[in-house]
Order: sequence, then C-alpha cells, then structure tokens
Amino acid sequence: MTNSLGLMFRITIFGESHGRCVGVVVDGCPAGLALTPSHIQMELDRRRPGQSSLTTGRGEEDQVEILSGVFNGYTTGAPICTLVWNRDRDSSDYERRRWMPRPGHADWTAHVHYGGFNDYRGGGMFSGRITAGFVMAGAIAKRLLMESLGVEVLAHSKEIGGVTSPDVSVDEIRANVEGNPVRCGSPVTAEKMAERIREAASEGDSVGGAVECLALNLPVGVGEPVFGNLEGDIARALYSIPAVKAVEFGLGRSFSTLKGSESNDAYVVKNGKLETETNNAGGILGGLSTGMPIKCTVTFKPTSSISKRQRTVDVSKMNETTIEVKGRHDPCIVPRAVPVVEGMVAVVLADQAIRAGLIQRVMERRG
Ligand SMILES: Cc1cc2nc3c(=O)[nH]c(=O)nc-3n(C[C@H](O)[C@H](O)[C@H](O)COP(=O)(O)O)c2cc1C
Repeated sequence: MTNSLGLMFRITIFGESHGRCVGVVVDGCPAGLALTPSHIQMELDRRRPGQSSLTTGRGEEDQVEILSGVFNGYTTGAPICTLVWNRDRDSSDYERRRWMPRPGHADWTAHVHYGGFNDYRGGGMFSGRITAGFVMAGAIAKRLLMESLGVEVLAHSKEIGGVTSPDVSVDEIRANVEGNPVRCGSPVTAEKMAERIREAASEGDSVGGAVECLALNLPVGVGEPVFGNLEGDIARALYSIPAVKAVEFGLGRSFSTLKGSESNDAYVVKNGKLETETNNAGGILGGLSTGMPIKCTVTFKPTSSISKRQRTVDVSKMNETTIEVKGRHDPCIVPRAVPVVEGMVAVVLADQAIRAGLIQRVMERRG
C-alpha cells in the first residue's frame, strides 16, 4: 500500500516496464483547472527516450491518454486517471538472464521481497519507466500551482560526470534548459557535460550527476511540522525516483564546513516585504517555506545498465558468473530526470498548498 503519495493531492502510481501501460491516478485535484492532453504531453516529451544522440533509442511513443476526471477541457474534481501504453517492449533478454541479477538494479531485492512473483521484465515496477506516471502527475500539479498561486517549478542539470555548472540565474535556466540535450542552464557547461556522457558511452559505461530544482513564489509558512514538514515531504518524493541517492536543500552538505555567521540568511526589507538577503537555507526554515525560492539538489547514480562486463551470480546454481547488460539504455539518466524532479516537487507543493488552504481559496475566488 505504498504506491500513493500525498494527503489532499494524492497520486497513485501503477504499471510495469513491460506490462501493458504505466500511469497515475491523481485524486484531490480541485475542479475547474483548465487541462488538456497537450499540457501533459509537453512534459512527457521532455522525459521520453530518444530525444537526442545522448539518450536511448528506445522507441517509446508515450502518447498520453486521459481516462477520467477531465470534461470539456476542465478538471471535474473526480480522480484523474492518465496513462501511456507500453509499445516498444522486448522481454527476450530478461527471460534469458532471469536468474542473473543485474548489478545496480533491484532484480534480486525485488525477487526476495515478492517471493519471485514480481514482474522482472525490464525491471518491472522498479524501472525508470514508471516515472512517466510521476511526470504526468507533475504536469497536473505544475499547472495547478501556476494557475492558482503563480508558483513555478523549474529544474536543470547541475552536474554530470564530475562537470559542474556554475550558478545560473532563473532566467538563464528558463532560456537554456530546453536548448541543449543535457538540459543544463549554462550552454558552455552543457557542451562539456555532453562530452563526458559520450566518453562514458564509448567505453560501454555510464555517468551520474545532479539536478537542481527551484520552486518560485511559494508563499511563506507552507509545511506541516513535525512529520509533514516541507523538507521531509519533498525528500520522500524525490527518493521515490529510481536512481536517486542524495537530496540536499540550500547549501546542503556544505553547511558542515561553515560557521553560523557564514550560513545564516540575514533578514532584510525589500519592496516593503520581509526577505532574506541570501537563500542558504533553500527556502525552508522549521520545515516551513520562507517565501524565498525552494532550492534542492538531487543526486543520481550512474545508469546501472552498462555493456561493460560485471560480476554477478547465477542464483539458480549459485555460481559466480559475469554479465554484460546490452540494450538501449541511457549512458546518463540526469537529462531525462529533469522533468521527473520538477514533477515530484510540484506534486508535494500542490499537496502542501491544498493542505494549507491556499489553493481552495484561490479556486473559489476564480470561480
Ligand atoms: C528517467 C529515468 C530513466 C532511467 N533509465 C534507466 C535505464 O535506461 N537503464 C538503467 O539501468 N537504469 C535506468 N534508470 C534507473 C533505474 O531504474 C534504477 O537505478 C534501478 O531501478 C534501481 O533502483 P535504485 O537505483 O533506485 O536503487 C532510470 C531512472 C530514471 C529516473
């Protein structure tokens, strides 16, 4: 019973990599939000494989279908069920190496957890494919946040294979992120990142990296201490994305090297409003939004599927052996994960904003 997230804007994920479809049910989206398939398709297209020479050539079409909850172009208030069909499946390789868990994947842990009944083809429910559902839910949440509160969620690739982007402005992210295949806010750094991915791919290897995500214009005081605090809720959502291994807010791990005088954000008055001069806290204090941009950084491990030879065990005989994971895998997950991170942050903020009574009020005023 752990495939749902959120209390008032609740998403439930379903589907497996090589099953019929992957999708999501969004319950709690207020009525009256203008929503068409193209709003969701736009975000799905950013996650879809085969967007550039740096991503896998898998031919997933990922055409969204909205099955319920939308009528005459507006949400009705009923659960929204939306999915994409799985069309480009080739399960033969998974049958052949069924008893050889792929290093870095959940093959063995899932086999033990589900007593062997899990759908192991393509990683089943542990595949990056399930994030199509995350993105569809995120597209709805992003629209709800923007239309009702003017909250914008945007992300970009901050680091890939050890190449780190300099700090870039929000305008640079908006202008550049879709203009290069690695989705970096700095076009110059994007070139170096792409080179690192190509190098790894040519060696049959993969690289990891980090996505930086910002949420702008969230009002002060959103969050539900103690256990529904904003950092905890966002972190939980982000750790549900396959391959995520660290989540940081603001200066994150760098706090450990600083003094209080260096890390505290001083209060100032700007345009008659209380603000902080810096945003080291990443827009969250006491688990509540400060009104400054929410800023988090999400670290992704290198893609587990690599064609380089790796050690594993044939568990049917308990013999040590080796495996080369061929197939159409991205040498770096990070560029395609950018819309996934945005989506999950948006889902949490939509839930928290509804819990805070903010969106209800705005929708009533609009009506
Ligand atoms: C958008 C996205 C796409 C992914 N694509 C791949 C892939 O092509 N090959 C792969 O080995 N892992 C891919 N992954 C990651 C694996 O699904 C993940 O590492 C694996 O299931 C093990 O789970 P864990 O890393 O969370 O422990 C992808 C993840 C995301 C978010």
